[in-house]
Amino acid sequence: MKVMQTVSTANGLSLQASERPTPTPGPDEVLIRVRAAGVITDELNWQPTTQKADGSPRTNAVPTHEFSGDIAACGENIQSFTKGQAIYGMNDWYQEGALAEFTVAPATSIALRPKSLSYEQAATVPIGALTAWQALTDHGHLQPQQRVLIHGGAGGVGFFAVQFAKLLGAYVIATASRDTVPFVEGLGADQVLDYRATPFDQHLHDIDLVFDTVGGDTLARSWNVLRSGGRVVTVADDIPDDAPQKIKDAFFIVQPDGKKLAEIASLLDKGTLRTFVKAVVPLQDAEQIYNHSIPSAQRYGKIVVAVNP
Ligand SMILES: NC(=O)c1ccc[n+]([C@@H]2O[C@H](COP(=O)([O-])OP(=O)(O)OC[C@H]3O[C@@H](n4cnc5c(N)ncnc54)[C@H](OP(=O)(O)O)[C@@H]3O)[C@@H](O)[C@H]2O)c1
Repeated sequence: MKVMQTVSTANGLSLQASERPTPTPGPDEVLIRVRAAGVITDELNWQPTTQKADGSPRTNAVPTHEFSGDIAACGENIQSFTKGQAIYGMNDWYQEGALAEFTVAPATSIALRPKSLSYEQAATVPIGALTAWQALTDHGHLQPQQRVLIHGGAGGVGFFAVQFAKLLGAYVIATASRDTVPFVEGLGADQVLDYRATPFDQHLHDIDLVFDTVGGDTLARSWNVLRSGGRVVTVADDIPDDAPQKIKDAFFIVQPDGKKLAEIASLLDKGTLRTFVKAVVPLQDAEQIYNHSIPSAQRYGKIVVAVNP
């Protein structure tokens, strides 16, 4: 099968086309013919791209761990899915990913693809939506009427967070770049701040929860706007080893959840939740996404790789 895999260059990691044997699913896994893969553009900088789970070096990783596609084969214990079903989902960062004609995932990490979405649209959902949901609920404990500040409201995680926070009954404030402010307002945010023009910590206070998808200085300043007892949750993965403990405690990594993806599919099919494709790129051009040279007229949504269109 065709894959795109990482290679080391003088300028860091790059992608190259390669051929590999089609993988075999384990007893509790399914083999997926990948139709489309969603991309987190800084994934090549993540630790699991260059290290195995035991800390030893990892080379030639196949990136992207969210996808839509068709089940090509089922492991011997699988009863919940059958060959030929259209699905969407994610797999583990340490597994080989979805920039490949086939990938493997645990059956508990996938769900049937939302019927109303194309494969390309469906591939934008799993990681962004699960990350946003887990941030607001499992980690942020957001309650109706509470005030939540979402940093990066137009991004692949942020646009789900804004919508989920509204569905949870919160008062939603988001930060976004000037061009994407109308988009985030259209998602239902009660207030949207242009992050370059309006320093959020000079305008906001008594926030119950900050959900940060940006990191750095934005994350560091987020504690200034909390009410007493308020919380910060972050997923931005640029936290240095010597960061203060409160920053380390605020960070989490999304967990696969096929049951929740089935509920999210239902919200998408009802039109209660929406997703957005920023651009679609063929597999052989995937490198351009990571080096940020994809021309895109649109500033919001998620970039998708068309693998087996
Ligand atoms: N820990 C986890 O489990 C997990 C899961 C998923 C993602 N992540 C991480 O979460 C981060 C976001 O992912 P994503 O897919 O949402 O990225 P994305 O689609 O690139 O979105 C980032 C958004 O943040 C906006 N932004 C940039 N600087 C900002 C600032 N100072 N204030 C407010 N907004 C700002 C960008 O706007 P403009 O481009 O218009 O300026 C963009 O809309 C990435 O670092 C990713 O690696 C972690």
